[in-house]
Amino acid sequence: MNIIPLNSQTRTVLAMGLLNVVPPLLLFTWFLSALHGTSASAETRRSTYIVHIVKSLMPKVFTSHHDWYSTTVDSLKSASNQSAPTLLHVYDNAVHGFSAVLSGDEVERLRSSPGFVSAYSDRIAMIDTTHTTDFLHLNPLTGLWPASDYGTDVIIGVIDCGVWPESASFKDDGMTKIPSRWKGTCEVGQEFNSSLCNLKLIGARYFNKGIASNPDVAIKIMNSTRDTEGYGTHTSSTAAGNYVKGALFFGYATGTARGVAQRARVAMYKVSWGFDRTYASDVVAGMDQAVADGVDIIFISLGFNKAPLYADPIAIASFGAMENGVLVSSSAGNDGPDFGTLLNGVLWALTVAAGSIDRSFGGTLTLGNG
Ligand SMILES: *[C@@H]1O[C@H](CO)[C@@H](O)[C@H](O)[C@H]1NC(C)=O
Ligand SMILES: *[C@@H]1O[C@H](CO)[C@@H](O)[C@H](O)[C@H]1NC(C)=O
Ligand SMILES: *[C@@H]1O[C@H](CO)[C@@H](O)[C@H](O)[C@H]1NC(C)=O
Repeated sequence: MNIIPLNSQTRTVLAMGLLNVVPPLLLFTWFLSALHGTSASAETRRSTYIVHIVKSLMPKVFTSHHDWYSTTVDSLKSASNQSAPTLLHVYDNAVHGFSAVLSGDEVERLRSSPGFVSAYSDRIAMIDTTHTTDFLHLNPLTGLWPASDYGTDVIIGVIDCGVWPESASFKDDGMTKIPSRWKGTCEVGQEFNSSLCNLKLIGARYFNKGIASNPDVAIKIMNSTRDTEGYGTHTSSTAAGNYVKGALFFGYATGTARGVAQRARVAMYKVSWGFDRTYASDVVAGMDQAVADGVDIIFISLGFNKAPLYADPIAIASFGAMENGVLVSSSAGNDGPDFGTLLNGVLWALTVAAGSIDRSFGGTLTLGNG
């Protein structure tokens, strides 16, 4: 078996919208080391926390959960500090609670608020990937493919780093009316307008309050659902890309590129902002919104290394998604955290492991000086 490593230059090329020409068997692996956020050093220094709340305990004086949470966060402000803590995302579907920028002292005071369940520091995700249809022996004439009707009218919410909507994989040839249960939207942002969605790519949203609140991260981002990494375009077209005839990669592997569920719809929830730039608070916001929008499946190809179950945002949000009838399909990780272990291995989600590909390509390299 061979793994073809792609260097950062190749990734840039992919990000330029050529991803649709990548053969489905090309394994594209890139790996982030986890960094566990901690703010224990200072009681007054603020950082982002994810806070779980029992929704049914909302005091009657509040008209909405948003109201309740923002009042709660404001009330944590102490006399000794003029600056107020900030509420980031409100979660109300896959998870009940919110994320906010708080100090250690403020988290301690929050513990005695009505409905408080738990609070833990935001953390950075590891990004994974996988796939191949031939390798899985999927057959267009018999078996899972025809039995599932190629995913016709299934809505897949992809939690990733955005999408390059011009990719041929997202053309909507052969697609019909969007299922009426769909409540999502195509959010306008930098270099992204609502006419870039169609009958295949039916939704696009982006979440960056979590990463943007982090003073340690120099943020210069494409502030929209547009994918500048190539990764989200890769995962979403692998899951549900339309047929692209005559695809090739620099002359290699000519053929028809296609996703596994070619007739399914894609809704992209951009929560990842590049290498080492994926925060749990944004990931949960994306999963929460996907459930509210009416996706059938959440596809998430990232995970939190060594997060205990009670502080693993994907495990917790997957449980809430399941309660709402949404299946979460997640990656088992490219490797680790240790030999013979996996990421996202919770009983209420589908955890998919990947193998490397069963073919390789040879080529001749001529250096600049001959
Ligand atoms: C007030 O909060 C800010 C923001 O976290 C922090 O930088 C500052 O040190 C705090 N000041 C005091 C007096 O606690
Ligand atoms: C949306 O963007 C595309 C591509 O940049 C452009 O062709 C189109 O005119 C824009 N549509 C609207 C409604 O602004
Ligand atoms: C992204 O754009 C939105 C809408 O214009 C804006 O409110 C937000 O501050 C921007 N975020 C960043 C990190 O630039």
